[in-house]
Amino acid sequence: VEETYIMVKPDGVQRGLVGEIISRFEKKGFKLTGLKLFQCPKELAEEHYKDLQAKPFFPKLIQYITSGPVVCMAWEGVGVVASARKLIGATNPLQAEPGTIRGDLAVQTGRNVIHGSDSPENGKREIGLWFKEGEVCSWAPVQEPWLRE
Ligand code: GTP
Ligand code: MG
Repeated sequence: VEETYIMVKPDGVQRGLVGEIISRFEKKGFKLTGLKLFQCPKELAEEHYKDLQAKPFFPKLIQYITSGPVVCMAWEGVGVVASARKLIGATNPLQAEPGTIRGDLAVQTGRNVIHGSDSPENGKREIGLWFKEGEVCSWAPVQEPWLRE
């Protein structure tokens, strides 16, 4: 089953946006399978964003992600990876559509409040990176028959 790694970045935690962000995914109908507040070590931030290592903004990105606690989440559902990216909106919040998380709640790429995996493969990879065994729960929400025919 498809899963994605969603993370409220330190600015989202500091600005009190955690509840608002979780609420959007809950209301959409996806299943929360992992959740924790976590101070990310530098090594993990570097591993998570290793594809961006060569970018000029990489040191700033690592500084940003490790600057305070983040909220780590695993969400599950059919099509959850692409749908979460839509709910999140464009990387640059000024270009993100109103109605999206970044479009509604942020103004700058370097403070764009949330991360979402960009493929199902990376969803699995990132959940494995950020969660230990036993921290991700399998469960059956009672609303399931009311979400899918
Ligand atoms: P994530 O969900 O966080 O992976 O964002 P994304 O997939 O929309 O963008 P991408 O993976 O290309 O970049 C990862 C993160 O690096 C972005 O979300 C930003 O926080 C940061 N970033 C990307 N481009 C820039 C940039 O030009 N300047 C700065 N300061 N940060 C950037
Ligand atoms: Mg990305």
